Amino acid sequence: MLKNSRWVQSPIWPEVEKLLKEIKISDTYYLRGNNKASGDLKSVIELHRNWVKSIIDLSEFSYAYITAGATEAINHWRMTDKRPWQYFKGDYQWPQIISQNGSENKYLNSKEVLYVSNPACSTGDFISLKDINNPVILDCAYITATAIKKIIIPKNTEQVMFSFSKGFGLIGQRCGLVYTKKPHSTLEPLNKVECFNYSSSKIMKTIMNNFTVDEMYNKYKNTQKEICNKYDLIPSDTYFIAKSTDPFYKKLRRKNDIARLCITGIDK
Ligand SMILES: Cc1ncc(COP(=O)(O)O)c(C=O)c1O
Repeated sequence: MLKNSRWVQSPIWPEVEKLLKEIKISDTYYLRGNNKASGDLKSVIELHRNWVKSIIDLSEFSYAYITAGATEAINHWRMTDKRPWQYFKGDYQWPQIISQNGSENKYLNSKEVLYVSNPACSTGDFISLKDINNPVILDCAYITATAIKKIIIPKNTEQVMFSFSKGFGLIGQRCGLVYTKKPHSTLEPLNKVECFNYSSSKIMKTIMNNFTVDEMYNKYKNTQKEICNKYDLIPSDTYFIAKSTDPFYKKLRRKNDIARLCITGIDK
């Protein structure tokens, strides 16, 4: 099962399911232009900034937008940025899949824009990026699935992306946010005409009002340890991921000789 797991994903959480049952889509059946959706957006962003603050300080990023997961933020980034860009081997493939013009690098080149996930998609671990001077597009999709650990944002970071898919298993609800220092060239005009998903702001707000950012990690970390001990694996910083250098998992290697394994469901 470990070897054949197609995705990395969190377990389904009954507490999350219960909360979802309480959210009515009709609660956000607003007339566009009456500022109700923009009001919700403002409050969800305020809440989110504080919710993640112990991990990442977004105070330099004055603008924020709701997106359909981190993936939609990537779509908008690739649609609007013509500069050469790079990513590290093993990182989230989507920007390269849709644009086919990134360079896959083992080591950073000092000029090109860097798309990078932190915690890193290749292992689920936090990485240090502090002295990077490149323009950076930072994908923090794994925040909500880790303990609280500070991320230093490289100084030329232009966008920071977030997701609710990972820690809470809300993959199909497509909840995400992207923060920018300048108005986003495509998302800003959409925000101005209240064209974003009103229900996802409700979902994100409900989650943040009921759970801390490290809640799921804390719930599952002992199980993660037990599974890792039992199968001789190394726990990742992300609670549903384990790592192994065993050649048995060779196909799942993403970074050097480290295989990324999803342990969701292994304890059942
Ligand atoms: C680094 C990274 N970013 C983004 C995503 C996708 O997130 P979302 O469901 O929010 O689009 C993934 C999913 O695998 C990922 O690994």
